[in-house]
Amino acid sequence: MRPKVLVTRKLPQQALERLERHCDVDLNGEDRPLTRQELLNRIRDKDGILSMLTDRIDAELMDAAPKLKVISNYAVGFNNIDVKEATRRGIPVTNTPGVLTESTADLTWALIMDVARRVSEGDRVTRAGRWPGWSPMWMLGQDVHGATLGIIGMGRIGKAVARRARGFDMQVIYYSRTRLPEDEERALGVSYRPLPDLLRQADFVSLHVPYSEETHHLIGAAELAMMKSTAYLINTARGPLVDERALVRALREGQIAGAGLDVYEREPELAEGLAELDNVVLSPHLGSSTWSTRLKMAELAVDNLLAPLQGKRPPHLVNE
Ligand code: DGY
Repeated sequence: MRPKVLVTRKLPQQALERLERHCDVDLNGEDRPLTRQELLNRIRDKDGILSMLTDRIDAELMDAAPKLKVISNYAVGFNNIDVKEATRRGIPVTNTPGVLTESTADLTWALIMDVARRVSEGDRVTRAGRWPGWSPMWMLGQDVHGATLGIIGMGRIGKAVARRARGFDMQVIYYSRTRLPEDEERALGVSYRPLPDLLRQADFVSLHVPYSEETHHLIGAAELAMMKSTAYLINTARGPLVDERALVRALREGQIAGAGLDVYEREPELAEGLAELDNVVLSPHLGSSTWSTRLKMAELAVDNLLAPLQGKRPPHLVNE
C-alpha cells in the first residue's frame, strides 16, 4: 500500500512530482494555510505530513492522526511543532537546515543596508513626490562599513552573516550559548562577548538563534536599553525573540536608531504602532524566499518525509 501524506501548501513542482511517485499526496492547492479544522480533518488517515511554519503541530493534531509516522517541516526552524510530544509518541520530526543559510544571510544584509542607509524610507518619500531635492543635511544615515556588528547566535546563519561582514571591514563580535573554538573564531574574524557587552558595543545587533521557551523575548526593554542610541536591531530569525511592544517604544523614543525586521511576534499581524515608524524596515518573512533555496528546501523536505516511510533514518532529524 502506498503511504498517504498531507502537504499543507503548494511546493516547487519537481519536488512534488517526486513525492507523488512514492505516495498518495493530499495537497492543499489553495494559496492560503489550512485552517485548524481543515488540518485536523485532512491529517486523519495520513502516514506523514509535510508542514509549514504556519501549521501548529501539537498533541491535538497528533491525536487526530493515529497513523502518523513522520512530520517533515519545510523550514529550518521548528518552533511550530511540539517536538517533545512527537518524540514521546516515537514520531520523527525533521527540518531543512543548511540549504537556506546563505539566502537568509543575504536578506539579513539587505535589512542592515536598508535601515542604516534609509533606502526604503527614501523610496517612500521619493515615490510620494516629497523629495525636496539634494540637500546636505537630509536623510542622513549611519555607515555600515567599519561599524561593529554584534551577532547573537553563531550557528550556520550567524557565521554566514559574519563572513559577509569582512567585505565591509567591520568588527564582528558575537554571543552564543556555546563559544566557538579559538581557531574558528580566528578564521571567521569574530570575538566573543557576553550578551550585555555585545548589546552595549554593537552598532548592529543581529539575531540568529532558534526560538524556544528559553529564548522568548531574548530582547526586551532591558536589553534595548543597553543598546547604543545609534544602533540598529536586525531580526531574520523568529519574531517572539523580541518583545515587539518594547521595541516599538524604544524606536519611538529614539532609544535605538532603527530596526530591520523580517519576522514578527504574531505573523502576519504587526505590533501596534510598528508600521507607522519611519526608522524600521519591515519585510514579510522573506529570509529563504529565493527560487533556488525554496526548491532545495522542498527537495530536502521530501527526502525527510520519504525516509521514515521507507524504513530509513531521515537526513535531518530534530528529535533529541
Ligand atoms: C525557516 O526555515 O525557519 C525560515 O524561517 C523559513 O523561511
